[in-house]
Amino acid sequence: MKAFIFDLDGVIVFTDKFHYQAWKKMADAMGIYFDEVINNRLRGVSRAESLEIILERYDGEPLSDEKKAELMEEKNNTYRKLLATMTPADVTDEVRDTLKKLHEQRYKLAIGSSSRNAKFILEKVGLLDAFDAISDGNNITHSKPDPEVFTKAGEFLGVKPKECVVVEDAYAGIDAAKAAGMTAVGIGDAAGYAKADYQIESFRELLAIQG
Ligand code: BG6
Ligand code: MG
Repeated sequence: MKAFIFDLDGVIVFTDKFHYQAWKKMADAMGIYFDEVINNRLRGVSRAESLEIILERYDGEPLSDEKKAELMEEKNNTYRKLLATMTPADVTDEVRDTLKKLHEQRYKLAIGSSSRNAKFILEKVGLLDAFDAISDGNNITHSKPDPEVFTKAGEFLGVKPKECVVVEDAYAGIDAAKAAGMTAVGIGDAAGYAKADYQIESFRELLAIQG
């Protein structure tokens, strides 16, 4: 193995609660039922697909593309205000130390995230320099479970898919990693997903599975 590609939300940082608060504000304003169970379905999927999932419970007139774009912008503005409160303390010592050790062992490290806010988040938590490449929602046309975000991360690093290990908390992300021909490690929500090659409970276990 030559590289580790990390999903961001739910692996390096925990922004689920901010996504939830921002979507909830929009849903409440439109009278749409939205709860944390529905929020779990948004993990790993794009902003536009997230909106469609929330709109499954909307019984008004069909919305135009312009209106949908407006709703996504409104949600993103709320979300970014919440992200702006993040600091380096939002990354655990375990995550920081493990990344440092992998880097010292000469593994290449990348981010593979569907988010268009990935760089902003990494900057807020002081991890922008910890990665050799960032593949995110800005450089893809298909989101997870499509392999594109990870395939691009491997290309940015100059490492072949079979030499890449992907670390993911979403089922869609594990499917994407396998579709990219990479080794998949499930953590958090995806720790119990049978399609993952490795299932880990804590981030430092990555140090034991390098090959
Ligand atoms: C993923 C999140 O990382 O990014 C999804 O798990 C989110 O829930 C997606 O929809 C897109 O994020 P953003 O920041 O571009 O709206
Ligand atoms: Mg995730």
